[in-house]
Amino acid sequence: MSKQFPTLFSPATIGQITLKNRILKAPQSSGMNNMDGTVSERAIRYYSDQAAGGAGAIIVEYAYVDDIGAKSAHCHLGISSNEHIPGLAWLAECIRENGAVPAIQIEHCGRQKFLGTQPICGPSAIPWPKLWDQYGPQAVPHVLTIEEIQTIVRAFGDAALRAKLAGFELVEIHGAHGYLLTNFFSPTTNQRNDLYGGSLENRMRIYLEIARDVRRKVGPDFAVTIRLSGTDYEPDGFGIEETVELARALEKEGIDAFHISGGDHHTMIHQVSPMAIDICHNAWAAAEVKKHVSVPVIASGSITLPEYAEEILTSGQGDFVGLGRPLWADPEWPKKASEDRPEDIRPCIRCNEGCLERTFFQYKAVTCALNPQISREGELKIKPAEQKRKIAVVGAGAAGLESARVARLRGHDVTLFEEKDRDGGLLNEASAPSFKADIRPFMAYQATQIRKLGIPVIRHQADLEELKDYDAVICATGSRPIIPRIPGVDKPIVLDALSAINQPQSIGHQVIVVGGGLVGSETALDLAENGHDVTLIEMLPQIMNGVATTDFLAYSERIAKTRMKIMTDTCLVSVEDDGAIVRHARVEEKLTADTVVIAIGLKEERILFDQLIAADQEAYLVGDAVKASKIFDAIHTAYRTALRV
Ligand SMILES: Cc1cc2nc3c(=O)[nH]c(=O)nc-3n(C[C@H](O)[C@H](O)[C@H](O)COP(=O)(O)OP(=O)(O)OC[C@H]3O[C@@H](n4cnc5c(N)ncnc54)[C@H](O)[C@@H]3O)c2cc1C
Ligand SMILES: Cc1cc2nc3c(=O)[nH]c(=O)nc-3n(C[C@H](O)[C@H](O)[C@H](O)COP(=O)(O)O)c2cc1C
Ligand code: SF4
Repeated sequence: MSKQFPTLFSPATIGQITLKNRILKAPQSSGMNNMDGTVSERAIRYYSDQAAGGAGAIIVEYAYVDDIGAKSAHCHLGISSNEHIPGLAWLAECIRENGAVPAIQIEHCGRQKFLGTQPICGPSAIPWPKLWDQYGPQAVPHVLTIEEIQTIVRAFGDAALRAKLAGFELVEIHGAHGYLLTNFFSPTTNQRNDLYGGSLENRMRIYLEIARDVRRKVGPDFAVTIRLSGTDYEPDGFGIEETVELARALEKEGIDAFHISGGDHHTMIHQVSPMAIDICHNAWAAAEVKKHVSVPVIASGSITLPEYAEEILTSGQGDFVGLGRPLWADPEWPKKASEDRPEDIRPCIRCNEGCLERTFFQYKAVTCALNPQISREGELKIKPAEQKRKIAVVGAGAAGLESARVARLRGHDVTLFEEKDRDGGLLNEASAPSFKADIRPFMAYQATQIRKLGIPVIRHQADLEELKDYDAVICATGSRPIIPRIPGVDKPIVLDALSAINQPQSIGHQVIVVGGGLVGSETALDLAENGHDVTLIEMLPQIMNGVATTDFLAYSERIAKTRMKIMTDTCLVSVEDDGAIVRHARVEEKLTADTVVIAIGLKEERILFDQLIAADQEAYLVGDAVKASKIFDAIHTAYRTALRV
């Protein structure tokens, strides 16, 4: 099998079951189930595709264990009633038929109830801050009585039995991420002074009772794992030493493997880490647990590339890896790695734009910024074109490269035009800061696919004349920086953001960055982290508008560690030879600077498209040329357009 990743593709066991490799799909709520918690056809298609990609096991997303307070989110999967079993059985069967071991996670959401509806249950009346901001007093948990706790313990055992009856071969108890069990474990959320609060022994009691009830109901031979956060990263929460003690006690209750993650939803950046957080973020915690237990440990979180997974296994940090987002970006990640084709894996860039943002903050089903097929399995497949056509794609940025790839895979004769001597377009600037490095493997992936598909790239500005012989033209011409018409803007100390990123040597020590959107905020942060004295000015009351939630949180922490000065409600009036005049609350002020960086936005570049339409030629706009936006829109517009040309 694989020469590059021999350990990753060696079989191993969890309890009585053998997995063909060391990869488990980490459970991830999809928002694809029916409102009553039953399995939908959409979820079946999605999980079948995930299983066909080659993972050893698929751990189906968290399923709520009771109909009282366990259900967390919209279209959450249910396992609270025997009525759920037929759909679950269908799901387990499809996963097995597609080559993976079917597993499922069982869960009670505790205080983290996205739905915001009562009853919200917890060990103490301490609300989840996000829910409090949204719903006020309604977010305060009902304090569970001992009798109610016992009912929940039994609900977990019953749910595990339903999983077994449905044909799953492994059940995972969700004991991580700020849901009910961690609410008991963490002193941040547990202020009880009865049998379930106070000492470590009391705070872990519910875990042990659940493990015992589950084991009693599923029998000794059925594989049972538990997911734990190594730490919740809360200042007054639990640390790895306590998690190790918990794991040791759980092992005695017959837990077959520990699936180690980190954080809760309040500390989301440690759970679903964005690219500004280090890769393999919680592997250290898996390594620590592994030192103290004799059953296997599954390391998880931000293991985006197979070389990271192999390294975790060979260095003894884990026995298996749990991959979540990487299998959304590319469900065939395991298959391609096993065939020693890691360069063909479309790597997750940890942007969270298509997945976390959509489901947790917009109540939609998940998809992926880089993979529009997620949640549209079977509908948005790349199928051969009815008729082979001659297609020109103008622009080799993210959108152009994706259009060219998909059009070529459909059998068209594709030519790419790029006026610059490098491909990737704005991805070059987007990936420049060290905290955006995850974008670089994606750029390499796109370039590799163009090369492997033999798509010719013509390196000059495409014009109307040379395009007239093509059947259709896809204009992926991107955008250009907007420069405001204000006095002094043409002075030598002024640079637009893209020039500033490309020519760091031209930037003086003292810098004013104008515009606190995505590009301006990141540029300012990068400069501040590299020793510049930076002032960021933004006319709105807040910076980082349009930045994904997890990036916002990660950048806020990083900005706090720099000396960057932020002036909101402030606009640029004029530029002088040694700085700029800004206006704040109707008062003008002079700020001295060596360089003024303008980052107030990008404007669509569509002259060529307009010319093509005027010349009556078949033409399409994709990516930033439609509207200066994000990678998600670049890839999604490109993919869909290439499916219909
Ligand atoms: C600093 C920065 C940071 C960013 N960070 C993020 C981020 O973290 N997450 C995110 O989702 N998005 C981010 N973005 C936005 C994202 O990079 C863009 O939305 C995306 O890359 C646009 O891709 P595109 O292919 O549509 O356009 P572009 O990348 O602009 O590509 C257009 C290409 O067309 C070429 N071209 C134009 N006209 C012609 C012609 N006539 N002939 C030949 N070639 C031509 C250009 O040279 C260029 O290479 C960022 C943008 C910037 C500037
Ligand atoms: C949209 C979304 C839903 C998730 N749902 C679950 C879940 O149901 N159960 C769980 O244990 N973790 C859940 N997680 C966390 C993931 O399993 C995983 O730990 C996290 O995404 C980080 O790993 P990754 O970098 O491999 O994606 C979810 C994450 C995301 C982004
Ligand atoms: S949307 Fe972004 S973070 Fe989510 S799976 Fe896709 S690439 Fe990864």
